[in-house]
Amino acid sequence: MPTQLQTAIDHLSRAQRVVVFTGAGVSAESGIPTFRDDLTGLWARFDPQRLATPEAFLADPELVWGWYEWRRARVGQVQPNPGHTAIAQLERHVPQVCVVTQNVDDLHERAGSTRVLHLHGSIQSPRCHDCARPMQIPLADLDQLGDGQRMAPPRCEDCDGPARPGVVWFGESLPEQAWQSAWPEVQKCDLLLSVGTSGAVYPAAQLPQLALEQGAVVVHVNPDPIAVSSERELSLVGRAGEILPRLMEGL
Ligand code: OAD
Repeated sequence: MPTQLQTAIDHLSRAQRVVVFTGAGVSAESGIPTFRDDLTGLWARFDPQRLATPEAFLADPELVWGWYEWRRARVGQVQPNPGHTAIAQLERHVPQVCVVTQNVDDLHERAGSTRVLHLHGSIQSPRCHDCARPMQIPLADLDQLGDGQRMAPPRCEDCDGPARPGVVWFGESLPEQAWQSAWPEVQKCDLLLSVGTSGAVYPAAQLPQLALEQGAVVVHVNPDPIAVSSERELSLVGRAGEILPRLMEGL
């Protein structure tokens, strides 16, 4: 009887169109904390209602801006890990690969993935809160930012509005273009690889189920076993940085 890993390799080696759907877990081994892991997750230490909603920003822009600048500086310091690299290498084996990520970092791009859709925006792209003009803001020194010290957002040259992070907050719509592009990719794929996500945040979390309903194989990679509901769904238990290179070695 083939192992789950071997079965996943067999499916991947036949696939023509693959969507790699990623969450915070793929960047964990680079040193970026996830959101919902019990002890280390950001939402175990910080209250998302005070940091990740439009209301929170209006109530206390310095708190929210300082926290995101701390995270932006952290992203600037870390490197892609073997999980990101393996995902980028998939392009050598499969004709069409699209990465659909919930992550706001740029580690997939830095690892070499060429088609990456960011469903939750990008932490590297702050913009004016009032007029949406993109703003170039030099990275702050991580040591001075601590674990998210308060910081006044710079003001927009055009309208004097405050800078806001380029990420999607709870209660906001996903970037139209990324979502409109992701949907057909998932509908057409023959395999969706879901890596390092708790599947807790919708609408992104519905994509693996959509792929399954369209007849694709769905392969989950997560240290926590993922409950599967179909013969076409596989759960590979382990860290992205270990499992994904083994998948690539088998191709
Ligand atoms: P979560 O923190 O909810 O889930 C991270 C998942 O990664 C968990 O299932 C972990 O078991 C798994 N994990 C941890 N370490 C891993 C590793 N080394 N390799 C593979 N998997 C690992 O993060 P997301 O599912 O990405 O939203 O969260 C979804 C959204 O909720 C985020 O995009 C963010 C957050 O609020 C916004 O920013 C809008």
